[in-house]
Amino acid sequence: MGQPTPALNDDWWRSAVIYQVYVRSFADGDGDGTGDLAGVRARLPYLAELGVDALWFNPWYLSPMKDGGYDVADYRAIDPAFGTLAEAEKLIAEARELGIRTIVDIVPNHVSDQHPWFRAALTGGPERELFHFRPGRGEHGELPPNDWRSEFGGPAWTRLPDGDWYLHLFAPEQPDLNWAHPAVRQEHEDILRFWFERGVAGVRIDSAALPAKDPRLPDFTAGRDPHPYVDRDELHDVYRGWRAVADEYGGVFVGEVWLPDTERFARYLRPDELHTAFNFSFMTCPWHAARLRTSIEDTLAEHAPIGAPATWVLCNHDVTRTVTRYGRADTGFDFATKAFGTPTDLTLGTRRARAAALLSLALPGAVYVYQGEELGLPEADIPLDRIEDPMHARSGGVDPGRDGCRVPLPWTAGAPHAGFGGEPWLPQPAGWASYAADRQETDPGSMLTLYREAIRLRPAFGDAPLTWLPAPDGVLAFTRADALCLVNLADPPAGLPAHTSLLLASGPLDPDGRLPKDTAVWLRA
Ligand code: GLC
Repeated sequence: MGQPTPALNDDWWRSAVIYQVYVRSFADGDGDGTGDLAGVRARLPYLAELGVDALWFNPWYLSPMKDGGYDVADYRAIDPAFGTLAEAEKLIAEARELGIRTIVDIVPNHVSDQHPWFRAALTGGPERELFHFRPGRGEHGELPPNDWRSEFGGPAWTRLPDGDWYLHLFAPEQPDLNWAHPAVRQEHEDILRFWFERGVAGVRIDSAALPAKDPRLPDFTAGRDPHPYVDRDELHDVYRGWRAVADEYGGVFVGEVWLPDTERFARYLRPDELHTAFNFSFMTCPWHAARLRTSIEDTLAEHAPIGAPATWVLCNHDVTRTVTRYGRADTGFDFATKAFGTPTDLTLGTRRARAAALLSLALPGAVYVYQGEELGLPEADIPLDRIEDPMHARSGGVDPGRDGCRVPLPWTAGAPHAGFGGEPWLPQPAGWASYAADRQETDPGSMLTLYREAIRLRPAFGDAPLTWLPAPDGVLAFTRADALCLVNLADPPAGLPAHTSLLLASGPLDPDGRLPKDTAVWLRA
């Protein structure tokens, strides 16, 4: 194709901007209403223009889609709704030509109930050993083997016609694998090789702290230590094995590790284990200066001793979109408090999200941007009869589920379905076209313009460590290299420290040149 491939450096993941692609909702190339690889390939120039270093694809494998693809039936095949393996290979290569790397998503805790292993297990084959099958309790085995609850609500066990029960920490269509079995380990190392051979640069590990189970499958008693299935020590040996595979290819990992205990969290990032893990403490942190500062300080302190870079995440495909969350009375995120009809001020939320974008992009480490975040998309209300996320039904209809952050993207304001493609699999709310990328591209005040500028200017912070500057209450101020970031969360406008030039602001300064509430600025010191 004439153009030399841009040189890519080995340490890219330490400071990368990584864009999360939820393929089903990104862009629909064939007009069937479901996003696909053709859609992504057609939009690679948009992603290059945005300036991202890598793409993380949510699972794109063959799947009955009972949990948006996190129910994998075959890791070596692309779901036909998305395309083919040959297309995935092309996409990986084309992105690479633009200097963009690919990260795939591996789901070790479970497979789909349509996976050949589970189908064989159901017929009573030796594959039963690859899962957790148990007789029930009670006189006739009518009670689940233990008291574990599914993350999506309801019991974590389903009974089969033959009387046995099987374990699923998520939906019944997602049976948990038995990680004490060597074939499970071998298979996952082979899957990693399969994708590294195809040129992927990294792997996101789904529910990374859950796969190992106490073999006795004891009841869960609050405070039980060690926990029967969260963060068990034997997992570290599994990830050391994975790391050895990744090192053969120069591949990197990002773990989905939800653990409040920072010391336990950091264990996953030891030099012979995972390279990085998502920073959920920052993602769930309310819009509050002191709490944000604590979250940032704790993050840096827990990563420093192991030499692992931090990651900064504001949202993803599982949580309330940023502009909506920041526009509510409770600006933190908690699965337990999600509710229908929460009052939201989107103007306020958007202002804060703009400031938060500059904050997170100024911090040392890697930053994740979830598709549509760069367009400032709000969480959408999905009509009840169109909600697909199993979290909704399994909560007895109480939890709105996660579809509100998974609505197909608006690309072209004047086109049908805002240019997404065919009639979208999830309905786009009224007014969605006003967020269209083509409109924002030409608007200097848009969220898209802010993200593009910020990603372009971000190298001003270099790879320098962070130094806090003295600042009034409610103001965050720090320098890295010769750049400075100031975020004002307080009512009084904040004076700007001495600087040579203003690099970027998330909103207008006041007439005296001071920084208003919920606004951030980057300065050259
Ligand atoms: C992770 C994914 C989520 C999925 C769950 C089960 O938390 O991010 O979307 O439902 O794992 O695989």
